[in-house]
Amino acid sequence: MNRLDGKSALITGSARGIGRAFAEAYIREGATVAIADIDFTRASRTAAELGVAAYPVLLDVTEQASIDAAVRAVEEKTGGVDILINNAALFDLAPIVDITRESYNRLFAINVAGSLFMLQAVAKSMIARGKGGRIINMASQAGRRGEALVAVYCATKAAIISLTQSAGLDLIKHGINVNAIAPGVVDGEHWNGVDALFAKHEGLPRGEKKRQVGEAVPFGRMGRAEDLTGMAIFLASAEAEYIVAQTYNVDGGNWMN
Ligand SMILES: NC(=O)c1ccc[n+]([C@@H]2O[C@H](COP(=O)([O-])OP(=O)(O)OC[C@H]3O[C@@H](n4cnc5c(N)ncnc54)[C@H](O)[C@@H]3O)[C@@H](O)[C@H]2O)c1
Repeated sequence: MNRLDGKSALITGSARGIGRAFAEAYIREGATVAIADIDFTRASRTAAELGVAAYPVLLDVTEQASIDAAVRAVEEKTGGVDILINNAALFDLAPIVDITRESYNRLFAINVAGSLFMLQAVAKSMIARGKGGRIINMASQAGRRGEALVAVYCATKAAIISLTQSAGLDLIKHGINVNAIAPGVVDGEHWNGVDALFAKHEGLPRGEKKRQVGEAVPFGRMGRAEDLTGMAIFLASAEAEYIVAQTYNVDGGNWMN
């Protein structure tokens, strides 16, 4: 008996990285997974690699029509969404005096509004179906504490922790549990981009920032996407029914609360 047998999951931004690892883990636990991403070519490739329990869905979380169409696609394919992981996000980095409105608007549109209106559309669908559900938001250690060069991204992730609390409190009466995961530093394509930005702004050789952040983790290394899958499965499983509006750190000991 797998922990997610018969469940239908929609994972945003799952063409690569952490979202892809979640999709793989959910499929191993018996779920069917919509690989929902703005990069449809890569989502299609990922879905093909993950097998028959995965299917690609084109999704731009900044467009309401795209959100609604993605939720409809999952309803038509599987009868409804049992689990949403709000995982799609963008990172940027700049000193306070150099932050542009364009960067601010883009990060808040994807990371915050994207997660909120995705959550809203899925919650409406779950309420109409009357079977409850699970929603997992991707926060970050960046949402626990500001960082000198990372003001906007940090603010978006603090907003995710707050939205998780409000949505968690509002939706539990419908049997919908909303919780969040706050990773620390997770190696992969995303962090390759982060490393390149730090190299530019701090005058570091490429790879140096990764080395520094990995060394600073109490566990002794950067995280891997697979380090997060246990928490994602648990929060979606029957054992987590009494867990509401929480954000869990999965970060090798970087942050304690
Ligand atoms: N990697 C880390 O160190 C780390 C740490 C803390 C939190 N997180 C969070 O974990 C989540 C996943 O991170 P990751 O490292 O796998 O990132 P990633 O950049 O590798 O993947 C993000 C995915 O989102 C998709 N995407 C971007 N814009 C989109 C849009 N408008 N609509 C739909 N999809 C869109 C991208 O195509 C990509 O497939 C994010 O929420 C991130 O903030 C990551």
